[in-house]
Amino acid sequence: MFWYKRQLVLVMAGIFMCSSSVFAARGHAPIKGTSGESKIEGDIFFNEENGGLTVEAKVVNVAPGNYGFHVHENGSCDDTGKAAGGHFNPNHVEHGYLPKNGILHAHAGDMGNITVGEDRTGVSNIFLPGLTLTNGIYAVAGRAVIVHEKADDFGQPTGNAGSRIGCGVIEVVL
Ligand code: CU
Ligand code: ZN
Repeated sequence: MFWYKRQLVLVMAGIFMCSSSVFAARGHAPIKGTSGESKIEGDIFFNEENGGLTVEAKVVNVAPGNYGFHVHENGSCDDTGKAAGGHFNPNHVEHGYLPKNGILHAHAGDMGNITVGEDRTGVSNIFLPGLTLTNGIYAVAGRAVIVHEKADDFGQPTGNAGSRIGCGVIEVVL
């Protein structure tokens, strides 16, 4: 009986150590339509890796096309997404595309476009240099991801992507 308990403790400790190293915390924004007319749904995941965040984005139930999507300042989707405020922009710099321009020459929330195909599904896998999940001024947890009605054309001041069809607040999950 003593032997059995000891083995059990060792096995439990092993499971705990494996799970804590393999499954780091990550961010998840569950995307929903901002009004009854928008049937968009999706999931945006953020993983902390190598000095930034990798993003795995998927949206469904949207017409084919390109849709601007960004991290916006506030963690609210109220008022058809307007409550999310402007693009997350802690450095007060110009609008751009963070993966290409870097954190000093684009808004921290500038994720570009998500391309939706004939199957009404779109995916984007990008890396956002400099951002974090919860630490410091570049943290995205508690802010909102907005999907816009049109493409981000990277014009100033916010890419001309129009109104907000989808929104989700970034939560920390395991
Ligand atoms: Cu936006
Ligand atoms: Zn922007």
